[in-house]
Amino acid sequence: MKTIGIIGAMREEITPLLDFFKEYNEIQIGGNIFYVTTYKNYNIVIAYSKIGKIHASLTCSTMGLHFNADYIIFTGVAGGLSNDLKVGDIVLASSLCQYDVDISAFGHPLGFIPESKLYIDTDSNLNEIAKRAANKQNIELKYGIIASGDSFISDKDKKQWIIDNFKACAVEMEGASIAVVSSLLNIPFCIIRAISDSADDNADVSFDEFLEDSAKKSASFIISILDEME
Ligand code: ADE
Repeated sequence: MKTIGIIGAMREEITPLLDFFKEYNEIQIGGNIFYVTTYKNYNIVIAYSKIGKIHASLTCSTMGLHFNADYIIFTGVAGGLSNDLKVGDIVLASSLCQYDVDISAFGHPLGFIPESKLYIDTDSNLNEIAKRAANKQNIELKYGIIASGDSFISDKDKKQWIIDNFKACAVEMEGASIAVVSSLLNIPFCIIRAISDSADDNADVSFDEFLEDSAKKSASFIISILDEME
């Protein structure tokens, strides 16, 4: 049986999945609890990493190296950068970048690490499955670049800086870790995020208000993706 690793950053982002699957075994590794269950003909491993790129890297590495995940799917919330994104909209990442990487002192472009890539593409097959799942439910998926970094963006100038430098449509704090780790381990991955705020001066208030609802929207879309997988 193939194994699908599903990662969120915060407990709220995976609780709807645990409620859906109801029964699972718990395995503790590296400060995370991995919830192990089956669905259709897949092993499912679910965990929340805790916030930020380092935590997400560890959780994703554990999914790959310990649980031998064949696919990684990230579910959670994000700040919207594009004007056409509003709270509750779902974003499917085309690629991920780290807006907080800066070794431009040595002539490198912002976000670029030698021997890596500025933008890491998500898996086209998983993305097609996600798009099919969205079409069936008349969900309008936004497909675009997601920028990750270890800050909660709640400032219109910083927001504009990320848009200008990275052409991203949404911002969050883990997606690029999943992209770096999964691609290095050759695990197909996709990143789904529902918008909780607009990364502007009101972002903290909006995040607190909509975290739970948007996390649920993202998680229930993950279930539709699983249902669309063979
Ligand atoms: N996740 C959700 N909203 C965010 C924001 N504004 N900045 C960073 N991560 C987020």
